[in-house]
Amino acid sequence: MTLFLEEVTLTYADGAGRLTALDSVGLDVPAGTMAAVIGPSGSGKSSLLAVAATLVTPDRGRVVVDGVETGALSRAEKAELRRQRLGIVFQQPNLLASLTALEQLELMAHVDGRGGRRGRRGAQARERARE
Ligand SMILES: Nc1ncnc2c1ncn2[C@@H]1O[C@H](COP(=O)(O)OP(=O)(O)O)[C@@H](O)[C@H]1O
Ligand SMILES: [Mg+2]
Repeated sequence: MTLFLEEVTLTYADGAGRLTALDSVGLDVPAGTMAAVIGPSGSGKSSLLAVAATLVTPDRGRVVVDGVETGALSRAEKAELRRQRLGIVFQQPNLLASLTALEQLELMAHVDGRGGRRGRRGAQARERARE
């Protein structure tokens, strides 16, 4: 998968003004490579990840995931893109305590409409989770 950010600016409301968390940031992560974003607390790492993961829409700039211009997508389309192409490990785990690790992964196929408790679709969902 590839990730490409261009001229991304993100601001937050800050009293009467705006706080600029990301100021025209660019990032190019080609397929098969790994990138780490490091910096002191408050430097914008979480903001960058939230924007790259399409969870937060920037004020300005392009976010391209696997060749898909995410700026043109609806909320539902972005959710679909996240389900199908992005894996996000949050600082807070956001896991469902009553499910096993395997079941948490299997659940994503159901959310995406590719599940099915029995039969071929259910078996495929389990196989993908195991992988
Ligand atoms: N939801 C928010 N509302 C207002 N300001 C925020 C919000 N989230 C982050 N900030 C501010 O944006 C800047 C970058 O924060 P953040 O992306 O969380 O940095 P990091 O993950 O590197 O610690 C900080 O100044 C932080 O206080
Ligand atoms: Mg952070």
